[in-house]
Amino acid sequence: MTSILVTGGTGTLGRPTVAGLRANGHSVRSLSRRTGPDVVTGDLLSGSGIPESLAGVHTVLHLATKGRTDVAASKTLLAATRAAAVEHLVFVSIVGIEAVPIGFYRDKLAIERLVAESSVPYTILRATQFHSLVEQVFVAQRYSPVILSPAFSMQPIAVEEVAERLVEVAEEGPAGRIADIGGPEQLSGRELARAWAGAAGSRRPIWSIKLPGKAFAALMAGRNMVPGPSYGRRTFAEYLSERYPADR
Ligand SMILES: NC(=O)c1ccc[n+]([C@@H]2O[C@H](COP(=O)([O-])OP(=O)(O)OC[C@H]3O[C@@H](n4cnc5c(N)ncnc54)[C@H](OP(=O)(O)O)[C@@H]3O)[C@@H](O)[C@H]2O)c1
Repeated sequence: MTSILVTGGTGTLGRPTVAGLRANGHSVRSLSRRTGPDVVTGDLLSGSGIPESLAGVHTVLHLATKGRTDVAASKTLLAATRAAAVEHLVFVSIVGIEAVPIGFYRDKLAIERLVAESSVPYTILRATQFHSLVEQVFVAQRYSPVILSPAFSMQPIAVEEVAERLVEVAEEGPAGRIADIGGPEQLSGRELARAWAGAAGSRRPIWSIKLPGKAFAALMAGRNMVPGPSYGRRTFAEYLSERYPADR
């Protein structure tokens, strides 16, 4: 049994990861800014509660995110993990961040470098977008007369499969940057929009959107996807059929 702290343990990826670690018999603390019976309270931005949350912890899975403050939050965590003599830090990142020049991805890359340069033994796992994130892109447009879909393709993955991999990674020990993981299919934006519209019962027209700039060009070139055999097994269609049952 290993003592593990999961930052972001209350989030989309954190919840199945904490459940998977506990199912394997580990002693798991889930960090949250909130208070409650299932969490240890701490804030990576102010630093409050972080040293206490790390007392006696062997492995840290760093999944917390809040946008553009992530670099500062990660610096706080890294300093505290060093002070607490943590033996393994796992950081989850995103496929293609060095190729797609957007601010959030630059920050992710900066955190990867901080992790690699810190004295704490580490593993970095990059994943493609979760099914739920792709769904959100379309749900967010529910009041639009048309569905806008990006002209590039994506390779969405089930968050449960990312969580399963994280459990393995936590158990295997420090391995540096390991192989990226992605979902079972590379689908065009239009195919993803059609699948969502079919499942959600929307008959609105789908417009494919192309934007200028280096970031969009990198996405058009498929840099957000994983070449070679896929890791994930659960398809976007399977995810949608559970989210939008036909008999609802
Ligand atoms: N979404 C995707 O498609 C995708 C794809 C690849 C990789 N990733 C990466 O996977 C990781 C997890 O993403 P997610 O979608 O699960 O995120 P999420 O659902 O937005 O959850 C964010 C988590 O961060 C915690 N958090 C935020 N600010 C904090 C702070 N100042 N101190 C402590 N905790 C804080 C939140 O905890 P409380 O609210 O309880 O405090 C929450 O548990 C991120 O690194 C993300 O970049 C995501």
